[in-house]
Order: sequence, then structure tokens, then C-alpha cells
Amino acid sequence: MPAQKIHGRIAAVSKKKMSVPDFQKFKDEGRKFSYVTAYDYTMATIVNQSDVEVILVGDSLAMIMLGYATTTPVTMEDMIHHIRPVVKGAPDTFVAGDMPFGSYNQSCEQAIANASRIIKETGCDCVKLEGGATMADKIAAIVRAGIPVMGHIGMTPQTASSFGGFKVQGSTPETARRIINDAVAVERAGAFSIVVECVPSCVATAMRKEIHIPILGIGAGPDVDCQVMVTQDLLDMYGDFKPKFVKHFAHIRAAMVEGLNKFHEETLSGAFPSPEYCFNKQVEISSMKE
Ligand code: KIV
Repeated sequence: MPAQKIHGRIAAVSKKKMSVPDFQKFKDEGRKFSYVTAYDYTMATIVNQSDVEVILVGDSLAMIMLGYATTTPVTMEDMIHHIRPVVKGAPDTFVAGDMPFGSYNQSCEQAIANASRIIKETGCDCVKLEGGATMADKIAAIVRAGIPVMGHIGMTPQTASSFGGFKVQGSTPETARRIINDAVAVERAGAFSIVVECVPSCVATAMRKEIHIPILGIGAGPDVDCQVMVTQDLLDMYGDFKPKFVKHFAHIRAAMVEGLNKFHEETLSGAFPSPEYCFNKQVEISSMKE
């Protein structure tokens, strides 16, 4: 793995950054890829150093970084503030920036203006927005303005309250059909890929037969082109909240608490700092006081 200097830090990077056309190329070649969230520079450098191909600066930062109960309070300023350092920290990784609630649903003009702001002020590679058939005109307008759009359907957290909270969607024949129709509408509107969240696996399988763009699944089963996961979930950093579709691939929260407790213990016992952590040069201190 070649070592690369990224903003003053050394990281081993062996991957080539994906482009928008690569999403379709990967799908057509049957190559799966993976997609995680990052909301800050340090995490971005870690993901960049991994083999994961795509980063989402999701509005889930509402809960994970800002402590809100839902994603709706997040502003354009919050998103821009978090997308910028992620783009800096992950030069070899495709970065998608989420459009926050209320930033694209009023009119096509509003959607284009805010999508342009996200791209212009952060340098990320595409925008993502939630909604199916009802958002198709906004998606088409943003795409016509030259900005790549990633769709997001199924369980859409920004409007979760209107369907009774964070629940599996598409569990009846009618709602499953509506979600697939949404996917078709998003594809026709020009999105280059689509996140499908929290649906029975068979819905993603059926969707695959009706659309051609890559399906990026989170809680959508195995029959998708890419698995998406919130990094804090997959690394078990977030605490006790664990949706059914989340698998813990490491236990970072426990490791962090253990490290903090060791620091605390050694602070109290005086074991830290031992000489190797001190500036041990002897200095003759002048007796003159001011
Ligand atoms: O904001 C987010 O993290 C997302 C993912 C759940 C796909 O939209």
C-alpha cells in the first residue's frame, strides 16, 4: 500500500476514487461496493484509509453529532459545516452530501440553489435527497443544472413522522408497489443511484428487476449493489440504540471508554506521565522574580 500524506497526516491508501459513472460501471460488472457515513475530518481520514469506496455526510449527523432526536432540525449551514472537513479528509473517496429537510421541497429553484450551494461550498461529489415520485421534478431540475443526484426512498427519516416513525416500509403489497414505483420515478428523473432504506429484502429484489441504476441498501437485505451503514452503528460507537439491520463489526465505544478509564486511573495514581512523556531537560531557573 503506498503511503500518502493527507493534510499533514500519513495514511495508507490503495484505492482509486470512484466517479459518478463508476457507480453504473460497478453495477454492470457485478462488483459490489460499500458506503458509510462520516461527519468530521478525523473519521473521514479513517474511512479514506479503509477500502470503503463511498462516504455519506448524512443528515443523521443530527442525532450522532448534534444530539437531536430527529433529522429535521438540521440546516444548510450545519450540512456545509460538516461536509467540508470530510471532503478535505477523504481525497480518495467519493463523498455524497445530504440535502437537509426543507432545503429542496418548496420549488425546483430552491432545490437547484441549495444543491449548487452544497457542491460549490464543500466540493463534495453529489447531493442526496429523500423522496420518490413526489420529488421527481426537483431531482430532474437539479440533474439538469449539472449536479449528480443520489435518491433515497423507503424509510425516509426526514418525513418519518408522517408514516408513524422509524419503521420498516413496504410490508404490504400496496406499499411495496408504491416504493418500487418511487424507485422508477427517481431513476426516470435522472438520479445516478438510489438509497433504499429499511424495506423487506424481497422489495429490493423486485426493485432490481425494474430499475437499472445501482441500489444502495440500508436494511434492504442482500440483493442490492452496495451496503450502506452509519459508521457509528457498525463500529458500535453510538450507545444502546441498535436497529435490527445493524451489525457491529467492531466495539469502539467500549475500547474508548476503557482507554479513558485507564487515563483517569493513571492520572489519579501518578503513573502518567512517566518520564518518556515529559520534557526532561534540566533548566536552571533564574532566581529573579518580577
Ligand atoms: O443520513 C443518513 O445517514 C442517511 C443514511 C441512513 C442512508 O441518509
